[in-house]
Amino acid sequence: MAKYVSGFSKLSKSDKINWIVNTYFSNSKDAKSILKQYWNTNDKLQSLHDEFIENTITNYYLPLGVAPNFLINGKHYTIPMAIEESSVVAAASKAAKFWLDRGGFKAEVISTTKIGQVHFIYKGDVEQLKSYFKYIKPQLLSDTNSITKNMEKRGGGILDIELIDKTDLLDNYYQLHASFETQDAMGANFINSCLEQFAKTFKNNTQSFENLSPSDIEIVMSILSNYVPNCLVRAEVSCKVSELNEDKSIAPEAFANKFLQAVKIAEVEPYRAVTHNKGIMNGIDAVVLATGNDFRAIEAGVHAYASRKGSYGSLTHASVEDGIFKFWLEIPLALGTVGGLTNLHPLVKLSLELLGKPNAKELMQIVAVAGLAQNFAALRSLTTTGIQQGHMKMHLMNILNQYNANNEEKKALVEHFKTHVVTHNAVVEAIEKLRQ
Ligand code: MEV
Repeated sequence: MAKYVSGFSKLSKSDKINWIVNTYFSNSKDAKSILKQYWNTNDKLQSLHDEFIENTITNYYLPLGVAPNFLINGKHYTIPMAIEESSVVAAASKAAKFWLDRGGFKAEVISTTKIGQVHFIYKGDVEQLKSYFKYIKPQLLSDTNSITKNMEKRGGGILDIELIDKTDLLDNYYQLHASFETQDAMGANFINSCLEQFAKTFKNNTQSFENLSPSDIEIVMSILSNYVPNCLVRAEVSCKVSELNEDKSIAPEAFANKFLQAVKIAEVEPYRAVTHNKGIMNGIDAVVLATGNDFRAIEAGVHAYASRKGSYGSLTHASVEDGIFKFWLEIPLALGTVGGLTNLHPLVKLSLELLGKPNAKELMQIVAVAGLAQNFAALRSLTTTGIQQGHMKMHLMNILNQYNANNEEKKALVEHFKTHVVTHNAVVEAIEKLRQ
C-alpha cells in the first residue's frame, strides 16, 4: 500500500488508524489493539485529548510520580513529576529528605520580564527609521489596547519597545524588540498577538510620516523569544560542612571538596557541563511537564543561558566559606499557572492543586528547586558510590518487566539484588535460574 496520503487530517479517527495499521504494520490487528488499549474509557476525557493536537490516534502515557518532603522557603511541598527515567523521582525524594533535615531550600525570583521581536528588513536611511520609530511608538502601544486590556488589569502588559539596529550582523536587518510582563500566564499568545499588531501598525503607517512608504519596511516575522535571561529564578541550599555527614564512607570535608570539584569541572568543561545540566533538566522537565508547561521552551532557554558567557557551562555553582557549604542554581524559567493546558488537562489541574495552586513566581521557585535537588542527588552519587548502583537498582524493575516476571518472581529477585550487583546479564541469569 502507498505510504503517502492526502487529506489525512480530514479522515475520521478510525479511518486514520485503519490507514496507519494497514500501511505500516505486518500485524495490523495487533497494532490496532495496542493503540486502542491506551484509549480512555471515559469518552469525554478521550475527546479532550483527541482535540489537544491534530491526528490523535491514541494517548502516550508517562508515569506521574511524586517527590515528597520538599521544604522551600519554610513551606512543605510534595512535587509532581512526569517522567519515564526510573531514577529521577527517587533521587529527588532522597535529596528533598536530605535537605529537609538541614533547613530546606531557599528560592527567590530575581526577574520576570519576557521578550518578543518583530524582525524586519529596511534598506533606507537609518536616521529616518529612527525618527519614524519615535513618531509611531505611541501608536504601537495604543493599537494593542484591546489585546493588553485584560493583562493590564492583572498587573501585566507591554513594558517597552525598542528599535534595534542589527545591520552589523545581517544587511538591512532591524528589530522591534519588546519586553513584557505576563504575570501568571506563560504569555506566548499574548506576546505573539501584540507583536503581530506592532508589525501591522509599523508597516501600515509609513505614509503618514515624511516620505516613507509601506514597501520600505519588509516584515519578516513576529515572534516571542524563548531566551528569557531576565525571567530568572535562583534556588539555594546551605549547611555546615560538618552536616554533610550522611554517607559513612566519606568524611564531610572530603565530600564537600569532591562535590566542589565536580561543580567546577562542569563550570569549565562543556562535555561534562551538558550531562551535568541534563541531570538538572531531569528534575525541571518532569515538573514542567506535570504542571502543563512547555518543556521545549524551557529547555531551549535554559541551554542558551548556560552558554551566555561564550562557552557552555554549569547552571549550578557551589562554594565552601567559613565552614559553610553552599550550592545554588540560577536559571531563566518562563512558566505559567493560568491559560494553556493548565485549565484543560485534569492531571495538570491536579498537579497544581497538589502544589497548593501556586502563582507563576512560586512555580518558578518550585521548578528551580527540583532542578537543584536533582543535581545534588546526581553529584552525590557520582562523587561517592558512582551512578550505576542507584540507576541499576531502579532499572531492575524495567528488566523484570521486560522478561514478564510475575509478582512472586519480582519479590524474590528484588530481595536477591539487595545484596548482588544489578547488571542486565545478572538479572536475566537470575530469572532463568528461578524459573528452572
Ligand atoms: C542521568 O539522566 C543524569 C546524570 O548523568 C546527570 C549527571 O551526570 O550529573 C546522572
